[in-house]
Amino acid sequence: MLNDFEKLADVYSRSHSLPDKLYSYVPTLLKVVEPSGKTILDLGCGDGFYTVRYAETGAKISIGLDNAKAQLARAITINQRPDVRYIFADVFTDTMPPADVIAAPFLLNYASTQGELQQLIDNMGRSLISGGKVVGIVDMPIRGSAARKYGTETTVLRQPLGDGSELRIDLFDSAHIISIRAFFFTQETIQHAFEQLGFSALTWHNPIVSPIGYELFGAEYWAQYLSNPAVAYFSAEKL
Ligand SMILES: C[S@@+](CC[C@H](N)C(=O)[O-])C[C@H]1O[C@@H](n2cnc3c(N)ncnc32)[C@H](O)[C@@H]1O
Repeated sequence: MLNDFEKLADVYSRSHSLPDKLYSYVPTLLKVVEPSGKTILDLGCGDGFYTVRYAETGAKISIGLDNAKAQLARAITINQRPDVRYIFADVFTDTMPPADVIAAPFLLNYASTQGELQQLIDNMGRSLISGGKVVGIVDMPIRGSAARKYGTETTVLRQPLGDGSELRIDLFDSAHIISIRAFFFTQETIQHAFEQLGFSALTWHNPIVSPIGYELFGAEYWAQYLSNPAVAYFSAEKL
């Protein structure tokens, strides 16, 4: 197993207050997902950090799926609402409920080969309605270096950086929180994998920062993050 979230669930929850996650991943995802009135699947939902936010911002129903029982136990305890559900499932292989939108923050980086990437996208395609979309965030260290001050530092463990290169993602608040492993895929490979399975061309989205993020830290603090993010946001429509 790549990262054992049965053991990491509690410590990983410290990542929820990091500036990049709270003030940029959240508002950017919400902007691209457009939850209002939709049935949303949040894949690799963890403790429901994003799942509950889709419901709070108007989703008809928001369903989190994860294969770590410790994460789902936290989700049911701290991020429960009548319009939120949690399901124990392996999102690479298990049948998933029908959805208007699939949100997959950093999930594609759990595929260790192009074959696994294709398998995951294929499974997403089976549960999406026609005209539905996948919204993802992927690690993209090629585009810049995430700075520790924002919360995340990405190290390429296998050079040269290419499809399947292993990454180490270190998360920091006032101290080191956790190291997790992930795999890199180029934007072209991700694009090709979606197109192979009958999706539209990918749209790549620029990150935004929420007003409260600017208020707390100022525009100068975010300048490097916004001009050179080490993550990339995409959406792809099922045709
Ligand atoms: C880095 S955590 C992110 C959790 C949550 N999205 C967040 O940002 O707080 C990745 C999550 O994906 C889950 N995960 C990894 N592989 C999975 C799989 N094959 N099926 C379902 N969940 C998976 C892990 O258990 C973990 O909770």
